[in-house]
Amino acid sequence: MTTLTDTTTDTATEQFRAHVIRGLQLKEKKISSRYFYDDEGDRLFQKIMASPDYYVTRAEEEILRDQTDAVLAALINGHEQFSLFELGAGDGTKTKHLLRAALDKGKQPTYLPIDISEHVLEELGDALKEEFPTLQYEPMQGEYFDAIKRGFSDRPGPKAVLFLGSNIGNLDRKQAIALLKGVSEHLGPNDRFLVGFDRKKDPATILRAYNDREGHTREFNLNLLRRMNTELGADFNVDRFIHAPVYDPLSGRALSYIVSTTEQTVIIPGADGPIHFEAWEALHTEISQKYDKPMIDDLAAHAGLRRTATFTDSKEYFRCVVFAPNTKAQQPT
Ligand code: AVJ
Repeated sequence: MTTLTDTTTDTATEQFRAHVIRGLQLKEKKISSRYFYDDEGDRLFQKIMASPDYYVTRAEEEILRDQTDAVLAALINGHEQFSLFELGAGDGTKTKHLLRAALDKGKQPTYLPIDISEHVLEELGDALKEEFPTLQYEPMQGEYFDAIKRGFSDRPGPKAVLFLGSNIGNLDRKQAIALLKGVSEHLGPNDRFLVGFDRKKDPATILRAYNDREGHTREFNLNLLRRMNTELGADFNVDRFIHAPVYDPLSGRALSYIVSTTEQTVIIPGADGPIHFEAWEALHTEISQKYDKPMIDDLAAHAGLRRTATFTDSKEYFRCVVFAPNTKAQQPT
């Protein structure tokens, strides 16, 4: 947590401030969902993942738990030595299924989670060492592509990259293609890339996941206002805003909005004037894209990837898709 007295020296905070001010001065106000995740945001996201209405986490975990061997085979094709990279670390709950299966079969995986947060990587390492004392753990702190560039050279056996949790859903189409391409460019013919996609489904089910009955998602969204108050010295009156998600079944986009219930002005130190909200004006905070198969194939085609395996859960809520690089000539293995 950053205190107010640091604000002039902390560059992360000043980037947050500049981003917020720019976003709130647009005709259609918006703030990126990456700013949800301060300490309190992390805590609230844990509660969302545990809530019965947020099906996403459970559906993906079911796939990795019940189809572990098939997923592992699709990733490393029987090799004994391999490297498993993961974009974003989290608590490793889902990845553990793959690591356990590999170690039980006497294989030698190296696990390399990539995360911005040193803290998250340390906690994950402590937990993994306890459960898998022989696991090679090489955490990489930093940006995804930098880390992949650094970590990819001279590794024995195939490389598999995981991007789980429907995190790709927070990106628009252009950003998603750029991310997939950024990984795909580094893949050799035996390397694989597993991406977790949340599927289109009953719109009511999706809307419930972003408006859970325990209210965790509401708090998660409104926490962004609280964060601006504590970190930026803003004066949002949180009681005058509501959490208002929508889902559009045509585009597959779940969108989260924070809506001002009254006409009001907010002060953000550093802005050149007060920020004005009309009554019922919306602030866009998050996109959580849902996919059908043609949409996944569209992304893959533009990113130089081809689908080699697809796994889904019993409710058909989620897809774990394994990609290989779409090299012009097939290389011998
Ligand atoms: C972590 C981006 C996958 O969009 O479903 C959960 C974040 N936001 N509830 C999602 C989130 C509101 C989540 N992702």
